[in-house]
Amino acid sequence: MRFGYFDDINSEYVITTPETPLPWINYLGTQDFFRLISNTSGGYCFYKDAKLMRLTRYRYNNSPMDCGGHYFYIKDGSNIWNPGWQPVKTPLDSYICRHGLGYTVFESSKNGLDAVQEVFVPLHENCELTRVTMMNKSSETKEIDLYSYVEFCLWDAQDDASNFQRNFSIGEVEVEGSTIYHKTEYRERRNHYAVFHVNKEICGFDTSRDEFAGIYSGADSPRAIMAGTSYNSIAHGWAPVGSHHLKITLAPGKLYSCIFILGYCENPYEHKFSAPGVINKEPADRLISLFGTDDQFDVALHALRTYWKDLLSSYRITSANEKLDRAVNIWNQYQCMVTFNMSRSASYFESGLGRGMGFRDSCQDLLGFVHLIPERARERIIDIANTQFPDGSTYHQYQPLTKRGNMAVGSGFNDDPLWLIACVSAYLKETGDFSILDEQCTFDSNEDDKASLLDHLRKSFDYTTTNLGPHSLPLIGRADWNDCLNLNCFSKHPGESFQITGPSEGPVAESVFIAGMYVKYGKEFADILTHAGCETEAADVLAKVEKMCDAVLDAGWDGEWFVRAYDAFGAPVGSKVCDEGRIYIEPQGMCVMAGIGKDTGEAEAALRSVEKHLDTEYGIMLHQPAYTRYRLELGEISSYPPGYKENASIFCHCNPWIAISEAILGHGDRAFEVYRKTNPVFLEDISEIHRTEPYAYCQTIAGKDAATHGEGKNSWLTGTAAWSFVCISQYILGIRPELDGLRIDPCLPPEIGSFSCVRRFRGSTYNISVVNGKDTEKGVSSITVNGAPCGSSLIPVPETPSVIDVRINIG
Ligand code: BGC
Ligand code: NOJ
Repeated sequence: MRFGYFDDINSEYVITTPETPLPWINYLGTQDFFRLISNTSGGYCFYKDAKLMRLTRYRYNNSPMDCGGHYFYIKDGSNIWNPGWQPVKTPLDSYICRHGLGYTVFESSKNGLDAVQEVFVPLHENCELTRVTMMNKSSETKEIDLYSYVEFCLWDAQDDASNFQRNFSIGEVEVEGSTIYHKTEYRERRNHYAVFHVNKEICGFDTSRDEFAGIYSGADSPRAIMAGTSYNSIAHGWAPVGSHHLKITLAPGKLYSCIFILGYCENPYEHKFSAPGVINKEPADRLISLFGTDDQFDVALHALRTYWKDLLSSYRITSANEKLDRAVNIWNQYQCMVTFNMSRSASYFESGLGRGMGFRDSCQDLLGFVHLIPERARERIIDIANTQFPDGSTYHQYQPLTKRGNMAVGSGFNDDPLWLIACVSAYLKETGDFSILDEQCTFDSNEDDKASLLDHLRKSFDYTTTNLGPHSLPLIGRADWNDCLNLNCFSKHPGESFQITGPSEGPVAESVFIAGMYVKYGKEFADILTHAGCETEAADVLAKVEKMCDAVLDAGWDGEWFVRAYDAFGAPVGSKVCDEGRIYIEPQGMCVMAGIGKDTGEAEAALRSVEKHLDTEYGIMLHQPAYTRYRLELGEISSYPPGYKENASIFCHCNPWIAISEAILGHGDRAFEVYRKTNPVFLEDISEIHRTEPYAYCQTIAGKDAATHGEGKNSWLTGTAAWSFVCISQYILGIRPELDGLRIDPCLPPEIGSFSCVRRFRGSTYNISVVNGKDTEKGVSSITVNGAPCGSSLIPVPETPSVIDVRINIG
């Protein structure tokens, strides 16, 4: 069952009922200022950091679920309604919500009045713009009251949600004309405030929640609106809010519109005040002057649309499969931008309170983003490298505002260091910009301790080399990619974090997954070294990689698949000898991608085992059989009920590893099948089962042991986005950046057949057309570049950027 439809011409998903199976959200903002917005206008906004710089309040895990937003109320006689339906939930005569690229529009009507609410965050400015337009379609003149309503958060979202003994006393605002300023803590150490403005004269306002909403009523029936008035209240402590009240007389056939600006403003400390206790309003005035007219609004929205159109023209395909085209050309790349910006911080499943930027997460997010804006990827790499410890190990997370490592989560996730090689390698392949290797990056943000980025990569590689266990496989530490396989934790007490309890330096527990990473990224590191002129060192790295391959094929091979790990007692995890958790997906994906056992049959056998033991109609599960009881020696993985999350759900992130592996082995049909199963665009028709947005990947889909098999959870912030894009763009469609140029080596299912692609790469535009006449899955039979035959599938980079015509025949 569907709850809307894709509008590919406008790159929008159009939701046709407010009652979607879960709130279906969008992300507004591209760089520093962000808004999460649901299909009923719920959500909140923040500047740079969802925890430390939250502008508006949101209540997670509420009932109803999506509670809190930036709301607009229309009072038309006895009808009180919102264009986004919530929070009043008055039945509407019509409703649609269009989630587009960086903007959301509600189009609703009630009782002969049409309302349009357009919301976006303009490029380069730290604010959200909302235009509310109303059209009187009835034959009577209407007297309308329009109200805005946001609830301010007192900046630190965690403190805001807990420290009431202080917070109920500190709220402060100023109001001038049609502008409300939220200035809590500005009197002391903050130099920033929020501004909420409307470009029309108002007849009243409220800034005290108690006055506006009431103590025993809420946003669904605000006291002021019910009474048809506003109280011009000034918040003194308690809960500061912003509400404008406008009165509009609208004759039949007439149109009215107004623009609201909700923004973040900052002053230099020495210019905080314009008079004692009065905030300096210059930055707010500036914002207001930028977006006060319809023309300015339209120009800014147009600029945003052009920005996205341009970004997405970096990789654009035309195939016979409309779902594939919309996934590749629009939604997957869009989500890659979102994950790049958010890491795992703020979604409708991540509260923005706890987690900053994940080290491994951000490194992987970059894989799907680097082709869009390589310059920002470059900055991110340096930010990440700056947090690495001198011995090559890393913090697991860092805070985006301070860019410093987050001690609360600590270190010791032994896959983390190798992901730095993965993202630098992807950056170099995309850009050819080897100058990044010379960038001086700090260790643990210490300006007095710096080394080149290349040295940081050396540290990453060496960290694994020097932390091997009894089988010469890498020690797992607190966990590897699977945060819930905690082999050194042994937690017995409720509430202990599985990630930071127990010794991180267990000397026995080993990870075959990290071994696979070491081989894959060790080879890429050797390539980088060779290109950087360090051939001897590259040879040394390859020798170590070779040794690791042997270790994997020895202690890491179980007969039909790769073992997952060895626990702290040296017992195998993910082996035929285990009663539960006999086979895991992660080492199969990573080891095959690394090329281990490719020529000797183990790779093929591993993939067939995955298909046999882990596959379901909704995707491939993490392991089987699921754990049915808590296992002290395994940790959090066994804390989840069977079929959910890391305990044998379909963890979407690992599915593209298998699809890539299948493509590497030449199985285009199977690769595409795996790719398709977790792709939300292909799941639109079963939205009542899948429940999360049909335009965004979710982290996890309930596995076959679960009561709700097929149900998605944790949409948006998942490494699935980046890896799925790598999978489809580089391995199935096969257009893959390499250090020396663009490789074109598709592995196609017969159902895709021929396709064309426009790929922007290092300043040139490649117009690629792939013809698959014989329904073969893999194997390039001929290539021409600008009409001339080319002997290799690696298309060299032209000296000067140009337009290059590439034709490929498969078969
Ligand atoms: C989740 C994991 C996550 C980990 C680290 C666990 O509770 O299940 O998916 O990676 O926490 O935050
Ligand atoms: C989500 C985390 O963000 C990611 O880092 C981890 O790899 C997966 N969960 C699997 O545990």
